[in-house]
Amino acid sequence: MRLILENIKELVQVDPQSRLWVAGKSMAEVQTIKNAFLLIKGEQIIDFGPMEELSRSDFEADDLIMEIDCSGKMVFPSYCDSHTHLVFAATRELEFVDRIKGLTYEEIAKNGGGILNSAKRLQEMPEDELYEQAMLRLEEIALTGTGAVEIKSGYGLTTESELKMLRVILRMKQHSPLMIKSTFLAHAFPLEFKGRHEDYMNLLINEMMPLIAAEELADYVDVFCDRGFFTMEESERILMAGIKLGMQGKIHANELANSGGVQVGVKYNAVSADHLEFVGDEEISSLLGSETMPTVLPGAAFFLNLKLAPVRKMIDSGLPVALASDYNPGTSPSGNMNFIQSLGCLRYGMTPEETIHATTINSAYAMGISESYGSIAKGKVANLFITKEISSYAAIPYSFGSNLIETVILNGEIQ
Ligand code: NIG
Ligand code: FE
Repeated sequence: MRLILENIKELVQVDPQSRLWVAGKSMAEVQTIKNAFLLIKGEQIIDFGPMEELSRSDFEADDLIMEIDCSGKMVFPSYCDSHTHLVFAATRELEFVDRIKGLTYEEIAKNGGGILNSAKRLQEMPEDELYEQAMLRLEEIALTGTGAVEIKSGYGLTTESELKMLRVILRMKQHSPLMIKSTFLAHAFPLEFKGRHEDYMNLLINEMMPLIAAEELADYVDVFCDRGFFTMEESERILMAGIKLGMQGKIHANELANSGGVQVGVKYNAVSADHLEFVGDEEISSLLGSETMPTVLPGAAFFLNLKLAPVRKMIDSGLPVALASDYNPGTSPSGNMNFIQSLGCLRYGMTPEETIHATTINSAYAMGISESYGSIAKGKVANLFITKEISSYAAIPYSFGSNLIETVILNGEIQ
């Protein structure tokens, strides 16, 4: 089956060199082709270029061909959302209201709310119900342009419930058209381990993680290295244990305080260091020259009214930056990457071009898939979206709250 997209007003994020990420000043430039075609065979992009170069004589006569006229519309590679917690049992509006009334996120967490609240609800919910709910969230984010997503555990906290969460993610991998990466997340110390953190560390490292590895349930290991959660030293031990079991690291770092998490992530060659509100010159120089993708989560900072990560400074220092949604019930109850682009522009001073790189190729790198996703290149997986009629690609971050996406194509198939 071949699919031809014709008369595309502008084909955006074309990258014939298939770069694995885009850093610094280069983030300001996005390559596009005006009045373009794009050819898909099976699951792959096999060709693209200006309309006048589209030659139909190349197709074998017996090939099944479907054509889509994209006049007035733009085509983008699907978003890669490299940081979510979208398997959860219940929303947390009560905490939302508590915060409006003045409580802080950390105060709520200390009183058994927050992650511990989500864990209690998840422990009680049967696996099938968790799966059904999470699949609906995947459908929802697919409609707003996401074609690949990383999903973390971390609301289980017990061995049984962490395994349950990761098995749900495995089932999602098997049944969803989205590309999914799974991450085991050491998220918080359960209340019953208060004053006994070392016992919980033991449970994580000597019981939970080996079982997860034996069932091959996680591609990555992640840890919430922040004030009130895991210390630098504990985070190092968790990443090291994960690496020994064949999982590459990721890290939640420097969201609530200058936690040292960035340096830990770099030291263990984490594929990404995420959040980064408390980042200064030392963290920037540690990230420069590393293989760790600095990943900012504008939805969480917006929802919690946090101080903002110094994205401008990071890019101006030559770093790449990825943006992800952090979709979760406590700090970012939305997986809408169009809105994440809007926040990138409006609150972090990013240009639309920079947000395009940050939500496609750089976020693909942050989940280890930028060789096959995140840009328009021959041989990459045909995960794309076609917009409604729009006047420029800046219309996406500009029209915050709207969905300008008309058609979604995943693995070469119209959804
Ligand atoms: O990425 N920062 C840590 N973890 C999640 C939120 C967890 C929660 O409150 O449920 C995050 O923001
Ligand atoms: Fe997170």
